[in-house]
Amino acid sequence: MRKLLIAIVSSTLLCTALPSMAQSLPDDMHVLAGGMKAVQATNDKAEMVSTLTDMRAAAEDAKTHTPDTLAGKANDSTEVQAYHAQLDKLIAQIDVTLKQANTGDLAAAKEEAKKLAAIRNEGHKNFR
Ligand code: HEM
Repeated sequence: MRKLLIAIVSSTLLCTALPSMAQSLPDDMHVLAGGMKAVQATNDKAEMVSTLTDMRAAAEDAKTHTPDTLAGKANDSTEVQAYHAQLDKLIAQIDVTLKQANTGDLAAAKEEAKKLAAIRNEGHKNFR
């Protein structure tokens, strides 16, 4: 019984800790990629808001990583600053999309979400 209790408590702790654990940069990118598809596919406001919220968190987490192309560059170097600025641009557009999603205008939100692709392409051209 005690062992079962310990198992339950530790698995609960693990599950609540996992979402806040650091992800790798490719993990963050996969959240963004899955989110791009999910946002276009859904007609449910709550699902769209939660997808965009996860995408925002992934973009924030991506800022805690230095891409391989910038390996060895200091955090305050022009290049790393430019990488952060590109992710901030993405976050700003996610926020515009989130605002539309929160009003319930999902069609408008989908149009705003399409603009994320150009920011992605620019980011990939410079840093991937
Ligand atoms: C919605 C926007 C974005 C999507 C959907 C996206 C998607 C992806 C995907 C699918 C990968 C491949 C991950 C893998 O190798 O398994 C990737 C890699 C990468 N992306 Fe993005 N991306 C986005 C925005 C950005 C932005 C804004 C930047 C830069 C500021 C960026 C920088 C990178 C870098 C550096 C890699 C290589 C990561 C590595 O191999 O370690 N991405 N992205």
